[in-house]
Amino acid sequence: MSKRVALVTGGIGGIGSAICEALLAQGRTVVANCHPSEEQDAVKWQAAHKEKGMDMEIFPADVSSFEDASAMVEDIIKRHGSLDIIVNCAGITRDKTLKKMDVGSWTAVISVNLNSVFNVTRPAIDGMLNNGFGRIVNISSVNGQKGQFGQTNYSAAKAGMHGFTMALAQETARKNVMVNTVSPGYIETAMTAAVPEDIRNAIIATIPAARMGQPKEIADAVAFLSSDDNTYITGANLPVNGGLYMG
Ligand code: CAA
Repeated sequence: MSKRVALVTGGIGGIGSAICEALLAQGRTVVANCHPSEEQDAVKWQAAHKEKGMDMEIFPADVSSFEDASAMVEDIIKRHGSLDIIVNCAGITRDKTLKKMDVGSWTAVISVNLNSVFNVTRPAIDGMLNNGFGRIVNISSVNGQKGQFGQTNYSAAKAGMHGFTMALAQETARKNVMVNTVSPGYIETAMTAAVPEDIRNAIIATIPAARMGQPKEIADAVAFLSSDDNTYITGANLPVNGGLYMG
């Protein structure tokens, strides 16, 4: 069997990096996508990983654009022969209460967090169905399950991701294309570091595990769901949140 090829969108971010490392450790060929504006950071990220013996590709492309995302997917398939695993991890926040929310903050979050899932998955799905193998993991959020003050845009996008998961899972299960969601809680990354400290501490106080999560704790769940051994879990939403929300 040839090496499976995995694409991780938002692959150089806090959670994305850990996912890339976990998939590489499983023997996957890993392509880490980043936004074109992050290309220089991505080059440094790639070099730092290479120094540690982790050889991964980087692919700058704006996944909120269907043209960019499909060009990226087509290029990967052309060079590697297939795209077998997609982890839709690209995500941003623009936290504001609805009474202060401008159209730009709504549209940016829906475009990057939700439309990207369609933009990346649509051009890859025919190949997965034809090959009789595919693993898609959508990185949602606890806040897509329970909502969060100041996140109407983010909670809507993250809940939408799981709707996509459940629908696509039904369309593809017969062809061994397993589609799942992982819903992280509050994980130690730049995104959660941007939450004002007093609010962050108040949230941590409500987590039964009494701490924030680590990116690797998300990556381990993604590695299992995207493995060849996962032949029967599909359409699931796996919470990895230290007990913050039990749906
Ligand atoms: N519940 C109810 N009321 C609340 C509240 C809450 N959780 N938080 C604040 N309020 C109240 C305040 O007490 C205040 O009341 P008064 O007007 O009576 O004084 C009022 O709401 C403030 O409303 P504003 O519209 O003025 O809000 P703000 O501009 O001060 O701040 C915010 C809004 C920027 C969204 C801020 O609340 C915030 O940063 N919240 C954190 C949001 C968050 O958790 N984001 C997660 C980011 S990480 C991530 O998303 C990763 C992941 O997947 C988990």
